[in-house]
Amino acid sequence: MSKTIDEILKQTDFSKQDILALLQTNKEDRNKIFTHAAKVKTEYVGKKVYYRGLIEMSNICSKNCYYCGIRLDNKKAERYDISDAEILDAVKFAHESKYGSIVLQAGEISSPKFTKRISNLLKQIKEISNNELGITISLGEQPDEVYKEWFESGAHRYLLRIESSNPDLYYKLHPKNKKHDFEIRLACLKSLQKIGYQTGTGVMIGLPFQTYSDLADDLFFMKEFDLDMCGMGPYIEHKDTPLYKYNNLLMSIEDRFTLSLKMISLLRILMKDINIAAATALQAIDPIGREKAIKVGANIIMPNVTPGMYRDSYKLYENKPCTDEEASDCTNCMEIRIGITGDEIGYSEWGDSIHHIKRIQQGLV
Ligand code: 5AD
Ligand code: SF4
Ligand code: FES
Repeated sequence: MSKTIDEILKQTDFSKQDILALLQTNKEDRNKIFTHAAKVKTEYVGKKVYYRGLIEMSNICSKNCYYCGIRLDNKKAERYDISDAEILDAVKFAHESKYGSIVLQAGEISSPKFTKRISNLLKQIKEISNNELGITISLGEQPDEVYKEWFESGAHRYLLRIESSNPDLYYKLHPKNKKHDFEIRLACLKSLQKIGYQTGTGVMIGLPFQTYSDLADDLFFMKEFDLDMCGMGPYIEHKDTPLYKYNNLLMSIEDRFTLSLKMISLLRILMKDINIAAATALQAIDPIGREKAIKVGANIIMPNVTPGMYRDSYKLYENKPCTDEEASDCTNCMEIRIGITGDEIGYSEWGDSIHHIKRIQQGLV
C-alpha cells in the first residue's frame, strides 16, 4: 500500500517517490504540506522576512534564452541602462527605508568595462551605506576572475538560476551553443560557491515539456549542491519569445502558481535553514502571491526599487507587478502585506542565509 501524505511528512529523508507524491497532492493534502513547511520555517529560520531592494539596472542582454522577454533578438524590447547616479539614488532609498540588503540585477553582459563598472558601484554602495547594506548580485555567467573581483569589491551573495537541472529540458529552453551551455552554468555555480559567495539558484515552474519528475530532480539538485539560497517561481509566457509557440502545452496559470507554492514548501522541508525568496513572478499571477509564498516557507522578499520610469521595460514576462509604482509606494504597501502573513520584517538586518553561516562554522566555506 502506498504511504499517506501524513506518513511521508513525518519522515526526515525523502525518496524521489515521496517527493513525486507530495508534488501531485490534491487540495486537502496540499494544505498539510503547507502547514508542515510553515512549522519548519518558524523553527529553523524564524518568522522574519528580509528585504532585498531590487535594482534592475539594465535590460540589455547578450543572450537568447527562449522564454525571456528581454532576450537579444527581441527587437520590440525597449532597452535602457540606468546611470550610476540613479542606481546610487535607489541604493540610498533602500538604505534610508531600512532595507537590509539590495540586489543588483541586469541582463547578461560580459566585458572588462562592465566588470569595472560593477566593481566601482559595489565599492560605492558599501561606502555610502557605511557597510550597512548587504549586496546580492545577479549578473549571469562570468569568468572566475570577475566573480572574484566582485566578491572582493563587496558583493557577498550571488543568484544564478539553473532554470532546469535537466540538461535535455535546459536545451529546449536555450539555444544549443557556447553562450547557453548547461555545463558552463553548472561550473559557474560551483565557482561562486568556492569563492565564498552565499550562492543561490532556482528554476522556473510549469514550463512547456517540464514533468513532475524534472521538478523533483530540481529539488534534489539544490539539496545535493548544498545551496544557501533559492528563488524560484512560475513560468509566465511572453508573446515575443520563441517559447510562446508551445503555449498549448502549458498547465493553467493557476496550476503553475499552486505548483510553485508546493515547490517552495517542499524545498523548505528539504533544506530547512536556507533563504528562499518569494519570486516577483508569483505576484504577476496573484495580487497576494508573494505573501502566500511567505506563509508556506519563503523568508525573503525583493521589493523593486528601480526608478519608476524604467520599471516597465524590464519585462522578462507579461503582467509584471508594480511597474507603475515608485519605490516609496511599494514600501508602504509591502509592510501592510507582510503584516497579514503574521511575519515581521527584519529592518536594517542583512538576513544572511543561516545555512551559509553553519557551513562556515563547519569549515565547509
Ligand atoms: N517567466 C518566468 N520567469 C522568467 N525569467 C525569465 N523569463 C521568464 C518568464 N518568461 C526568470 C529566469 C531568469 C530570471 C532573471 O527571470 O529564471 O533567471
Ligand atoms: Fe538574458 Fe537572463 Fe533573459 Fe536569458 S533570462 S535572455 S540571460 S536576461
Ligand atoms: Fe509594489 Fe504593492 S508591492 S505597490
